[in-house]
Amino acid sequence: MHLGWRPFCPGPGSGPGPARHTVAVLGSGDFSKCLTARLLRCGFRVVVGSRQPKMAAHAFPHVVDVTHHEDAVGKAHIVFLAIRREHYSFLWDLKHLLEGKILVDVSNNRRVNQYPESNAEYLASLLPDSFVVKGFNVISAWALQQSCPKDASTQVLDSLEARQQIMELARQLNFHPVDLGPLSSSRDIENRPIQLFPGWKGPVLAAVALSIFFFAYSFVRDIIHPYVKFKQSDFYKIPMELVNRTLPTVAITLLALVYLAGQLAAAHQLYYGTKYRHFPHWLEGWLQSRKQLGLLSFFLAAVHVLYSLCLPLRRSERYLLLNTAYQQVSPRHAPPPQVTVPKLI
Ligand SMILES: NC(=O)c1ccc[n+]([C@@H]2O[C@H](COP(=O)([O-])OP(=O)(O)OC[C@H]3O[C@@H](n4cnc5c(N)ncnc54)[C@H](OP(=O)(O)O)[C@@H]3O)[C@@H](O)[C@H]2O)c1
Repeated sequence: MHLGWRPFCPGPGSGPGPARHTVAVLGSGDFSKCLTARLLRCGFRVVVGSRQPKMAAHAFPHVVDVTHHEDAVGKAHIVFLAIRREHYSFLWDLKHLLEGKILVDVSNNRRVNQYPESNAEYLASLLPDSFVVKGFNVISAWALQQSCPKDASTQVLDSLEARQQIMELARQLNFHPVDLGPLSSSRDIENRPIQLFPGWKGPVLAAVALSIFFFAYSFVRDIIHPYVKFKQSDFYKIPMELVNRTLPTVAITLLALVYLAGQLAAAHQLYYGTKYRHFPHWLEGWLQSRKQLGLLSFFLAAVHVLYSLCLPLRRSERYLLLNTAYQQVSPRHAPPPQVTVPKLI
């Protein structure tokens, strides 16, 4: 199906007028308000669809046409759905009006993998005659209000033409769109905003595994071995010296992992004679974790510096304590005994 609409490109000096294109936003919540403001700033005309247009109109600038869903959908070719997935069923009644239109699904979930299929795929199954695009969900309402360009206006959809149109629109809103492929990828994108520290799991696990390994190695070599062989008890070394020996080893190994990934990538490109071939999945993930690995390495090195500064202090403190104790028990350093002279009467 051919999509007739082309995004409006506001050039220098382009102002309000009949040439402006209209975009519909269904829903009048936070996201809708911020998106509407952004669209207006970038020269679009906006029509908002609401269940209660009279009440919702107060929350929008007077230039925004706040009306019923049917009217809003009838006036625009691109329709943003700023409503939650749980309410998508009402779109069924608008099916005939939404036919051939581009629907931008901005929804996120409250939990990772909350539903068996992604919201965008669910929407596409509900409205098979519309072009569903997943996008803008990684941008918060707050970020929409900012004027500076932001990354990650992620677009996924099945129709190439609809994708190009929405990517162009995102550019006009001063975002950098990233094309993440077909609609089946939308599940991953919907999970992204609710992931805690995405990209840190692998590097943190690697750091923990390396720490356990090097600590266990030092423990066997410096504590268990002298104890078994010479009956020498060095267990007091565990909290400070052993930890301080493990920290730099892990830090330097993590740093080596940062550079090793780049070397392997270079070898891969040389081997295949091109830089346009995809890296294997594991190497791709490794390359993307280099920042986290480097930061963890820096953190451990910093802790090592702190430990190293504390150790001499602890040693001098211990020396002072020992010295005092020695002076108290040693007869050589002890004060001369007081001789009591018996009184002569
Ligand atoms: N807020 C953010 O920062 C943000 C960021 C990224 C993505 N999103 C996504 O954007 C969507 C909207 O988020 P929001 O924060 O704007 O939510 P919200 O403030 O709860 O607004 C949702 C809107 O949906 C409409 N609605 C509520 N119940 C409905 C029903 N039964 N049938 C039809 N429409 C109904 C209401 O508009 P009317 O009363 O006018 O009909 C309401 O204002 C969500 O899917 C969210 O995941 C939000």
